[in-house]
Amino acid sequence: MIGSANLNIMVKATRKAGRSLVKDFREVENLQVSMKGAGDFVSRADLAAEKILKEELLGARPTYGWLAEEGGAIDGQDPTRRWIVDPLDGTTNFLHGLPHWAISVALEHKGQVVAGVVYDAAKDEMFFAEKGAGAWMNDTRLRVSGRHRMIESIFATGLPFGGRADLPETLQDLARLLPSCAGVRRWGAAALDMAYVAAGRYEGFWERHLHAWDLAAGIVILREAGAMVEPLEEGRDILADGSVICANQAIFDQFAKTIRR
Ligand code: IPD
Ligand code: CA
Ligand code: CA
Ligand code: CA
Repeated sequence: MIGSANLNIMVKATRKAGRSLVKDFREVENLQVSMKGAGDFVSRADLAAEKILKEELLGARPTYGWLAEEGGAIDGQDPTRRWIVDPLDGTTNFLHGLPHWAISVALEHKGQVVAGVVYDAAKDEMFFAEKGAGAWMNDTRLRVSGRHRMIESIFATGLPFGGRADLPETLQDLARLLPSCAGVRRWGAAALDMAYVAAGRYEGFWERHLHAWDLAAGIVILREAGAMVEPLEEGRDILADGSVICANQAIFDQFAKTIRR
């Protein structure tokens, strides 16, 4: 069930970029890879997908601003609207032939995310939401899970790789959380982690030091599916800070109490 003209533009753009990524994924061993920083990779696949998204999204809405992982930011004539794009979330999975990666596209208006699409092209799962119009995966309305006992709940996170300084904090989180829950997952694509909480596949997700392009689409999908989404450190702005915690409403307080210290 597709909504506004902007959402249609986003869905069309992600499908087109998704076809390019699926093609590259079939021949992933031939891709030239470069490392932007420790454990942070980019390949022709990310760049080709970003190019398609830029042509489609800015082609349809040339006055909007732009923020994307690989190409950076462009100010738009319209200072109130901006596309926020991760052309390939889960690059490390992609490059290892693991079919768990996605495209993330969000529309921000006056500092608020008003529409988001997270497209898992390998599985053809299109997660999308518009503020006030609910969250969907293909034709199915999304709703967070109803689990309210920690011991029955599973949570996802990202593990800091490449010598990142926040490793001790994440290890402390795990030491506190693991004894009280049914398990912790590390799938390697933050945008999909958020979509999965919205779909009720996990009860919650938290991660530090993400970027606006990892988070923006997931935030609106989560809220429209009935989840709570907050900055990990209370009072901060999620997109600017990059650290997030989200869960279904029934478990959020217990989960947040375990993770926040
Ligand atoms: C990464 C993934 C991963 C998260 C990293 C992100 P990328 O995005 O979302 O799950 O743990 O922090 O950078 O680089 O694959 O787009
Ligand atoms: Ca990256
Ligand atoms: Ca990402
Ligand atoms: Ca990326």
